[in-house]
Amino acid sequence: MIPPETLDAIRDRVDLAELVREYVPRLRRAGRAWTAHCPFHRERTPSFHVNPERQTFHCYGCEARGDAFEFVMKMENLTFYEAVERLAERTGVKLAKRESELTPSDRERLRIREVLALAEGFYHDALLRSSEAAPAREYLKRRGVSAESVAAFKLGYAPRQSQSFLREAQRKGFDASVLVRGGIASSRDGAPPRDFFYGRVLYPIHDAKGQVTAFGGRALDDSHPKYLNSSESPVFSKSRTLFGLYQGLPVIRKSRCAVLVEGYMDVIACHQFGVVEALAPLGTALTPEHAVLLSRYASKVAVVFDADAAGLSAAVRGAETLLQAGLEVRVATVPEGKDPDELLQRSGVEPFKKCLAEAPDLVEFRTGLALKGRPAELDPATKSAIAREVMTTIAQCPDEVLKAEWVRRLAQRLRTDEEALLRQLHRGVPAGGGPGAAGAGARRTPARPHPDHGASSDQKAGTGVLPPADQQVLSLLMRQPGLVARVAETDWASAEAVRIWKVLAGLDTTAPSWPSKLLEALVPADRALASGLLVDSSPSADPEADLTSLLERRRGEKRLKELEPLVKADAPVDEGVAREYRDLLARLKGTRR
Ligand code: UTP
Ligand code: MN
Repeated sequence: MIPPETLDAIRDRVDLAELVREYVPRLRRAGRAWTAHCPFHRERTPSFHVNPERQTFHCYGCEARGDAFEFVMKMENLTFYEAVERLAERTGVKLAKRESELTPSDRERLRIREVLALAEGFYHDALLRSSEAAPAREYLKRRGVSAESVAAFKLGYAPRQSQSFLREAQRKGFDASVLVRGGIASSRDGAPPRDFFYGRVLYPIHDAKGQVTAFGGRALDDSHPKYLNSSESPVFSKSRTLFGLYQGLPVIRKSRCAVLVEGYMDVIACHQFGVVEALAPLGTALTPEHAVLLSRYASKVAVVFDADAAGLSAAVRGAETLLQAGLEVRVATVPEGKDPDELLQRSGVEPFKKCLAEAPDLVEFRTGLALKGRPAELDPATKSAIAREVMTTIAQCPDEVLKAEWVRRLAQRLRTDEEALLRQLHRGVPAGGGPGAAGAGARRTPARPHPDHGASSDQKAGTGVLPPADQQVLSLLMRQPGLVARVAETDWASAEAVRIWKVLAGLDTTAPSWPSKLLEALVPADRALASGLLVDSSPSADPEADLTSLLERRRGEKRLKELEPLVKADAPVDEGVAREYRDLLARLKGTRR
């Protein structure tokens, strides 16, 4: 599974004596060899030898022998592959993943990415060059989309002929099934597959690394549906993707600010007018995964919405989701029920910038909303109702200092007692009315460190890396948390993974807010790991099958290590043990990456 040249390259670069000395400091010269007390068995006189010419070790006492790989395997209780990884890192030799080492689902993802990249170029060319695309070019022009925007977003046009890209892809060696799995072709009831998009303007959707993962397609007229998105696929999940993020990323990274708008056209107009921090979900409500993704790059977000009732409730809910992910959120209202695109195209960037600059923070916004149209002097019942409503939002903020500050301001605005509000906050806030409370998980208690995990926070905090095997398993669980019970505590290799797994197991993962609950309950170092996994977890076509095979492999490797000393001992080997050992070895060869 690892090319012999690579193994040789590593062997050439390792100095076995130097490596051994790190474990056996008393290694001494004995003629041309080195000798010491054997690290693998107890002995009085040194019978452990390292041969520097052959780069091998041999113990005349316990008959342990081998090369550098075997030495680290034995010393650190590693599998062969892990030992190779360890020494590759030490010697700076790159371990390339060969095609044959990829899992079938890795390979499928690569292929889908390739075909999507091909599609992006094909559709972009069609928009720029084909005569059929003249109305599409005209449409974009009419909507004020500049040539620079067309290029920056690599906008495209899908021809009306419903197999135009399919044919092109097949000419380039792609099987139709790759397009179907990739969400850009469909085949219904055994009919020949056809392109998913035809006769539409296309907006390529990129992940944060800039790879195309999907497309949004807009009709050129009033036909329905106005927008089509390519279907969820092994490389595309709507709930984890933000349109415009990739294009704005260099600036967002610097300013740590983002502007959340509603639609594709809003994002494009914002970028065109210089507000390149603008991004949008893909026609769905903002999810906790979106919030976590965004929180990696930004710390402040302005949520922009048009001032109708639906927009308002979506904005408050979206803003609360962002707040829970630890972001500083402000809410900006575009005047007169326009969307940012219309405002920008009609009045230029100044009024839009003004509305961003004047945006109040989420709590202030909700307070203003609740007080709107009320008399200056509030009766006690109304006061209490408003306090409850705003407190549901305050309670969701993970930052205690901010929370205290908001309570202070709310008390001032309502002319009520700050202490009373604080007591209510710590008792937990019952679900109140108002737009924010309408969504899922309205009943939220203030964030508190999880009692079981607070104590261990400084033991292993800050390591920030999970062993690859733990990372793979956790990634799959983040994709499909319902599988959590499949994993046993002994399956994990790191304490971090055990802690994350335990918290996950205790959550109701059918509730859409589970990711934020998970993050809330973890200590900061684990939270960073988990949030990375939530965002990165590479989509798996079949998480359940992948998990099963990962766990099988891992359990098998563990058992192998238990059996090894029995099989390799001088004493006669039990036939059952020997058979189990051989079977395991054979099976693991087939499943190891
Ligand atoms: P809008 O209707 O506000 O779209 O829907 P828009 O971006 O302003 O588009 P224009 O200006 O009419 O061209 C907001 C978002 O909701 C999703 C799209 O992501 C859109 O950008 N949507 C809308 C759909 O997915 N399907 C639809 O049929 C409509
Ligand atoms: Mn619009």
